[in-house]
Amino acid sequence: MLILGLETSCDDTAAAVLRLEYPAESVAEGEEPCPEVSILANLVQSQTEVHNPYGGVVPELASRRHLENIHPVAATALARAGVELERIDLLAVTQGPGLVGSLLVGLNFAKALSLVSGIPCVGVDHIAGHLASAFLSRPRPSFPYLALTVSGGHSSIFVVESPTRFTLQGQTRDDAAGEAFDKVAKLLHLGYPGGPAVSRLAAQGDPQAFAFPRARLGESFDFSFSGLKTAVANQVHRLTSWSEQAKADICASFQEAVVEILVAKTLAAARHFSCRQVVLSGGVAANPRLRQELVAAAAGAGDMEVFLPEPDFCTDNAAMIAMAGFFNRHRAGRLLAMDVYSRFGAAPAYP
Ligand code: KG4
Ligand code: ZN
Repeated sequence: MLILGLETSCDDTAAAVLRLEYPAESVAEGEEPCPEVSILANLVQSQTEVHNPYGGVVPELASRRHLENIHPVAATALARAGVELERIDLLAVTQGPGLVGSLLVGLNFAKALSLVSGIPCVGVDHIAGHLASAFLSRPRPSFPYLALTVSGGHSSIFVVESPTRFTLQGQTRDDAAGEAFDKVAKLLHLGYPGGPAVSRLAAQGDPQAFAFPRARLGESFDFSFSGLKTAVANQVHRLTSWSEQAKADICASFQEAVVEILVAKTLAAARHFSCRQVVLSGGVAANPRLRQELVAAAAGAGDMEVFLPEPDFCTDNAAMIAMAGFFNRHRAGRLLAMDVYSRFGAAPAYP
């Protein structure tokens, strides 16, 4: 089966072509066989230079840039994969959550492509896409497992029971982890996106230089990063020297506070829900310190196994959307516009 995945939920225009083949070995009756996955093309057209001067994504500029990029990016992905559009069996496109203008560009492109080509199309939840990134490489986790999804818009803990069934067990009460990284980068004039810049600078800094607060929130698996962000802002305003070392120390101390909380809550949740496997996903999962600390803490906990998608599959990409589209292929062909409307208010009444 060949799938063309499309992702335009924020500021990256992405397209990927996946080939999925069932393994020869038989599987138990009623069990979904896990296919062999070949990633034939995985393109991400970034808009960093558009949004960098503003220190964050400007939604109107993002959707305009998606309009320019979506066709060439999809065509290039097919060309690199060496696959004609006619051979594609399924179109998978992000239907939400995300910026509504950006989402509509990808959705309408996919719907038009589906209409003219007759290829069925399935709308995919962006977070389900991040969760599906664990299936793009081997080894793969087995169900049920615990997932931490940390991105620019989400910081959530899920118990994942199957590729399409996952239950939210904790989430941020204010800022997402990636959003906190981006805001700290803005305070220090490090540009957008902030996560990679903060983590690069943090590598030169002292993580103990500043004792930033950790919001533990009792036994809850929720997160809160707004107090930490305010503490960093106050520290930045108190700085007498704006040296590279001072900035690196702030980045390292901030990153340490985020990583410590993410790792502690994830492992506590894994223990609580009796999950022996933990999967990291979302853009912040590309953070080297988080990856390293989660692996170290899991090793210290004994029989806990950690699965880390490659960094390119952690940040927004269309390969994960194609993979999630595969898991949701039975829904292909639905009127996707309704799904988008229902996320942003009442759907218009159709006759
Ligand atoms: O999943 P993603 O690409 O887009 C959303 O769904 O939001 O995540 C983007 C977020 C941004 O906030 C970015 O700063 C953060 O992930 N990020 C990182 C790193 N790479 C990306 N945060 C910390 N360290 C990184 N290395
Ligand atoms: Zn994302």
